[in-house]
Amino acid sequence: MKKILYVANWKANPKTLLEAKKEIAIIKKQKPKNADLVICPPTAFLYPLAKEGLSLGAQDVSIFKDGSHTGEITVSMLKSIGAKFCIVGHSERRSRGESSSDIALKIKLLLSAKIIPIVCIGEHARGGDGEHFNEIRSMLTASLDGLNKKEKKQVIVAYEPIWAISTEHNGAIDASALEETVIFIKKLLKDMTEEKTVSNKVLYGGSVDQKNVKEFSLTPVDGFLIGKMSIKANTFLKIINTKV
Ligand code: PGA
Repeated sequence: MKKILYVANWKANPKTLLEAKKEIAIIKKQKPKNADLVICPPTAFLYPLAKEGLSLGAQDVSIFKDGSHTGEITVSMLKSIGAKFCIVGHSERRSRGESSSDIALKIKLLLSAKIIPIVCIGEHARGGDGEHFNEIRSMLTASLDGLNKKEKKQVIVAYEPIWAISTEHNGAIDASALEETVIFIKKLLKDMTEEKTVSNKVLYGGSVDQKNVKEFSLTPVDGFLIGKMSIKANTFLKIINTKV
């Protein structure tokens, strides 16, 4: 049976380190032994949480290696505080002006420090014309631009359709559309890496919850990037413990 990777994207939550520590303590105590989990807290909480023994990731990284760039958090800083993963190109950052060429640069820097990038791609909207496939293709191609085949193979891709992120009433994608899109992304990766079988993990993100995770797990997806439902340990654990 495939091992599913669950990545928690806490975004700008919780408000305090104390609250973050409480959630981490619950996850540590109750997580199934063989579950693959990555927690991406706000960067300010990464260092104090790194001692807790869970796999941690950052939510973004600077395009600069070092130098006079006020407010930037660099790859070597993340490395030195124990981050193993880093989300890049989340739609909430792209909407604030981050370009795919910035994202490609961040991925290169992360890989050089042996931090695994989780690159987010996903269409703005879906009509009946299949245009979203073109949007996904050009986002993925531009985000991995300039990487060699070996580097491309190490990237985790999170497919996050923007229209499905943090919706109120079960606005996630439906399982058959997810299946079709994950197959499409894996085929793109196969062509880009020139591999016989794809080694990249492809995750899904966008209103994942305890109800839809079972159906989604039956598609070729390798895991989930979970926002709203990962902030509280209890809802996150319910998703992880859902039997497929
Ligand atoms: P969501 O967020 O699970 O709240 O939809 C996912 C994400 O933005 O990574």
